[in-house]
This record gives sequence, C-alpha cells and structure tokens, in this order.
Amino acid sequence: MTEITRRQWLIGGTALAGSLMLAQNAHAQSVTIEGYTPTPENPIRMSANENPYGISKAASKAMHEAHQYGHLYSGGGARGPLTELIAIMEKVPTENVMVAGGSGEILKTLALMVAMEGGKILAPNPTYDDTFMDYSNRRGIEKIWVPVADDLSIDLDAMKAAYTDDVKIIYLCNPNNPIPTVMHGEKLKEFCKEMSQKCYVFVDEAYFEYVTDPNYQTMIPLVTEYPNVVVTRTASKIHAFAGVRIGFGFGSTEMLAKIKSLMTGSINGPAMWGAIASYKDTEYQNFVLRKNAEALQILYDFCEKHNMRYIKSNANFTFFETGMDSKEVNARILKHGILIGRPFPPKLDWMRISTARPEDMQFFVEAYEKEFFS
Ligand SMILES: Cc1ncc(COP(=O)(O)O)c(C=O)c1O
Repeated sequence: MTEITRRQWLIGGTALAGSLMLAQNAHAQSVTIEGYTPTPENPIRMSANENPYGISKAASKAMHEAHQYGHLYSGGGARGPLTELIAIMEKVPTENVMVAGGSGEILKTLALMVAMEGGKILAPNPTYDDTFMDYSNRRGIEKIWVPVADDLSIDLDAMKAAYTDDVKIIYLCNPNNPIPTVMHGEKLKEFCKEMSQKCYVFVDEAYFEYVTDPNYQTMIPLVTEYPNVVVTRTASKIHAFAGVRIGFGFGSTEMLAKIKSLMTGSINGPAMWGAIASYKDTEYQNFVLRKNAEALQILYDFCEKHNMRYIKSNANFTFFETGMDSKEVNARILKHGILIGRPFPPKLDWMRISTARPEDMQFFVEAYEKEFFS
C-alpha cells in the first residue's frame, strides 16, 4: 500500500474509488463523481454498454459475506440456489438452466461446438461481433451475413431465405447490438420452431431487461420443447456484473450437456451469491431502468434537435446517424474525454453510444454540439 494510504483503504468508497479511477481507470467514470475530470486518457466510458452505477448494495453485501466460503469449491453450494432462482423467474425446470462465468463463456463454447461439428454461422449484419463471432473467426468458421432491413431491424424473412443446408447455427441477438431493435415475438417464435428443425438456433438476450417494445418475447419457453434452441442471458448489464462474471444458458438437457462437456472455466462462488442477491433486488433494477430511460431521452432530444436519425432503444445503448466516419467521430469526441462505440460496419456513418448516467449523456451532447455544430 504505497499509492493508496492505509486510511483510504479502510474507508473505501469514493476516496478509494477515486484513487483507483485515476490510477487505473478501474471505476465507472462519471461527471457526478467529485474530483473527476474527463480526459482522453481517462474518459467517460460510453463504449462497452456497462452499467455506470456499479453492482447493487445488496449484491455487494452478499459477495462480501460470501468470502467466508471462498475456500470451498463452488462457493459452498451457491450454484443450486442460483439455478433454482433463475429457473423460477423464467418458469422453466432447473435442468434447462446453466450458470457460466458470463454469457460470453457460453457464446464461445457454442462457437467451439460449431467448429467441432462443422458448418456455417448464419447471422444478421450488423450484430454483436465480439465473443461468439470473434471466437468463431479464430476457428475459421464461415459466415453467411444477412443485412438488416431498411428500418435497421433484423429481417427474419431474409434470414430464412439465406439459409443453406451447410448452416449449423443461426445467431440472433434480441435486442440486437449495436442496433437495439427487437424482433416481433410471434414471428421470431415461429422462425425458431421452424429453423431449429434444420440447425441450432441461438438467441442472445443479453439486453432483455431493458426492453420496452410490447411485441418482444423471450425465447426461453421454447427450450423445453425444441432441443436445438439455445438462449443466453447475462448479469453483466442491468446487474452490473461485467467484471464479476455471471451468465446463464437455457436449453434442452442434451444441449446443455453438450455445452458443459466443452467448457473449461469455473464459476466464482462469491459472484454466484452476489447474483442471487442482485436478481432479487428489483428496487435497484428499477432504478437502473429509470436512469437509463432518462439518459436515452437526452440523446433522443438532441438527435431530434439536429435532425439526426436514431433508434428508439430496447437496451442500455443506442445507435444514431452521425453522417460521418465513425472513426473520426470517435477520435473527435475522445478529445472531450468521452469514449464511444467502435465502428460497426457496414453502418460506418452511424455510432453506437452506451447510455452511461444522464449527467454523462448531457455532458456528451454538449461536447458533440461544441465539436460538430458550433
Ligand atoms: C449481445 C451480447 N451478448 C453477449 C455479451 C457478453 O456478455 P458477458 O460475457 O459479459 O455475459 C455482450 C457484451 O457486451 C453482448 O453485447
């Protein structure tokens, strides 16, 4: 403890967070944090769809208490109660639920499964290009890309038309990322039922909790009847567990057994106890949703003021049309101490922005106004 004094260490909270933040970019950077100044070196992070409020107090307390079980494998038996809680919430038997160290672990394992079994990935474009796509690229798996429709939503008819017999898995991110649109629930359900007779259908529901579109439906109920349908969820977003790492897979017992047989990771016990507390903490989740909606509204008002097209979001980020190359926009906004989304080809004159806190979104629109409209 040379940089951080013993007193700072003991009091924790803002003082400690502040020093870590400045030293290592370790804390959510926000203009609401006293003493923090956004800089290009230590920017507000509006780039990775993280939850800027951090884990809930209840989850934090549960994780802290769970350290007493840190010496026990599986954190002294957290997996059972966590699986049960999620199964009850999603109204499926526990045998159709699995826990992982973030949903990314399941995404990668599914890519590995495809690599081992052979065949292509059919996916919309653009979609979430990290983890599943990245891992599958490194295994040399071929893709069939289907452009999104004119309204930038995933075009299920076009996806069906693009299917060929050598497709092993269809990847559908719902809400999609980087474009937070959703597919119509009934239509998607029919698509999953039909196409899962031919190949695996993988629905990634990472942003499910933020959905406001009344036509949305989760595909979890299908997994008990359709053995080729697999769904993932994550605690990384509304629960702010991106660094803690908890995710879930939903599938038939055969599907989950296959995934588990290929996985190499193990799950952190305190993280599982924390997740149990967090999923029960609806007050915190509602707070995050309220703040997310406030931040989005600031961006919508700004886009309308400047006649810029934008997507009404079903997530903790959105996509708006800058009309400029995204790399240039990124670089010019970074000068103001804000990091926003990477380029998402082929929509290179649109930009993804994570909502962060409303105060940070306000800071962003003022910086954008200064940089591009004055
Ligand atoms: C669509 C989507 N799926 C999966 C993930 C991976 O989430 P995690 O591995 O943190 O559960 C992300 C992360 O941003 C995402 O955007």
